Amino acid sequence: MLKVEQPVLKKIAGAGIYGALQLKSTLSEIFHENTKLYPLSARAYTQNVAQLGKSAMVKLLMANPFKVYSLMDQAELEPPGEPNELEKLIEARRSVRSYSGEAVTRQELSRLLLNTYGRIGPKRNYRPVASGGALYPLELYVVPVNVEGLERGWVYHYNADRHALDIVRREDRWEEFRHLVWLADMEDVEKISMVVVVTAVFARCTMKYQDRGYRLVLIEAGEVGHNLALLASSLGLGSCLLGGFLDDALSRLLDIDGVDEAPLLPIVVGRPSATNIGGDGVEHAQQGGGGGGGAAQGNGAGDGNGAARGDR
Ligand SMILES: Cc1cc2nc3c(=O)[nH]c(=O)nc-3n(C[C@H](O)[C@H](O)[C@H](O)COP(=O)(O)O)c2cc1C
Repeated sequence: MLKVEQPVLKKIAGAGIYGALQLKSTLSEIFHENTKLYPLSARAYTQNVAQLGKSAMVKLLMANPFKVYSLMDQAELEPPGEPNELEKLIEARRSVRSYSGEAVTRQELSRLLLNTYGRIGPKRNYRPVASGGALYPLELYVVPVNVEGLERGWVYHYNADRHALDIVRREDRWEEFRHLVWLADMEDVEKISMVVVVTAVFARCTMKYQDRGYRLVLIEAGEVGHNLALLASSLGLGSCLLGGFLDDALSRLLDIDGVDEAPLLPIVVGRPSATNIGGDGVEHAQQGGGGGGGAAQGNGAGDGNGAARGDR
């Protein structure tokens, strides 16, 4: 059954003379609303995910996540040859769940944010990812645990225009944050350096592309997540994308309304420890990553989404 939460209802009810237009374009909002997690629904969801993760069907799918055309002819591909630097970096990236606790430096933070979603190029008029219609609907927030020059648990917004940080919360909210973003997969939460939260200001894209723009927004969030993961790896840092969080509680903490702007993707960043826990829940030695030697090894097998460790 469709569930429409208060903020969406208010928006629909307050649509005024543009009501028909706005109603037509709220499909993506209603979808988003119906896939949010709340404290109660999250419990059932987590149990379901854990249960499904153990099922024979999911295990079979995980062992063979490829489409197989058994009756088709095939054309052979050339052997790929020696990997270049980017290819080595791509190979070295792993989701890192074990961190050393060592701080991320101010310069590392600056480089990560700039090259993930800042303004780059000689005239600062390029962005590091492709964006449908060049509309750039995403925002980044930083919640530090151990970052040189930043306060633990404060909430910072990345001001991409000025390449600076806006201070959203000037008080330590870490205790609250760590319970509404599901960090249970991390070996020791206190040893991560920060969480970067990717949010979307949907209208920046949907005002042009309407409900279909919602797809473009999610695609761009994936680009940003991968950009940050590769950049982290190149600097000898580790990262882990997270699928599980309490949507509205996180919105409140970031001081956004959860409808016009909503969180999509928290990403843990930190300095990897010598061993890492892979997506299979098993400990592996870290693997030397491109550039910094920091990427981690793991037989990534999980889907995240916040279940307790081992249920990835
Ligand atoms: C959208 C998304 C959400 C994820 N959520 C989690 C998560 O909540 N916890 C976690 O430990 N890993 C999470 N992961 C990481 C996956 O478990 C990991 O990518 C997968 O096991 C493959 O391993 P690899 O990234 O090391 O190649 C997530 C990945 C993606 C793309």
